Amino acid sequence: MIRITRITHALAALAATLLLSTAQAQDADDSLYRAWGEKAGIQAVMQDFVTRLQADARMAPFFKNANREHLVTQLTEQLCQQAGGPCTYKGVPMKEAHESMDIGRRDFNALVEVLQQSMQAKGIPFAAQNAMLARLAPMHRDIINRP
Ligand code: HEM
Repeated sequence: MIRITRITHALAALAATLLLSTAQAQDADDSLYRAWGEKAGIQAVMQDFVTRLQADARMAPFFKNANREHLVTQLTEQLCQQAGGPCTYKGVPMKEAHESMDIGRRDFNALVEVLQQSMQAKGIPFAAQNAMLARLAPMHRDIINRP
């Protein structure tokens, strides 16, 4: 009887440890999502971002004919997923979405600059701004298609 109780205790302790570590892993995973103010926070930044892209002299030639609502929705899903939030980007893959455009490194950097303006304007903490940029940066391989 004592042995069964011990085993039961050991199993309960193991289950508690597993539950705790899963919860901690989830917390760690979505901390960037929470720092951005979850879906509503990300969407607010993306709305500001698309407005700025269409007004910025360097970016307007690319974005002047963009479907604003569609772009905000797709960007929100994508950044939500990148931040570890409960979203799945189901839009066109990055390479395909940008391959018909003439995008150079200078254009990519200009877009990042405009994104920084939006993150600043919407009060995203500096560390959370940088963490998001670090997650987006590797996409340049699929987006930049000329030197
Ligand atoms: C990390 C950087 C970037 C990300 C995360 C990104 C993301 C996206 C996403 C999610 C879409 C929507 C795809 C769809 O329709 O399903 C899109 C479309 C588009 N992107 Fe990018 N993009 C990036 C960089 C750029 C750059 C550097 C340019 C040009 C300078 C650019 C120009 C465009 C344009 C013009 C569209 C089409 C908009 C429309 O007509 O609806 N993107 N991008």
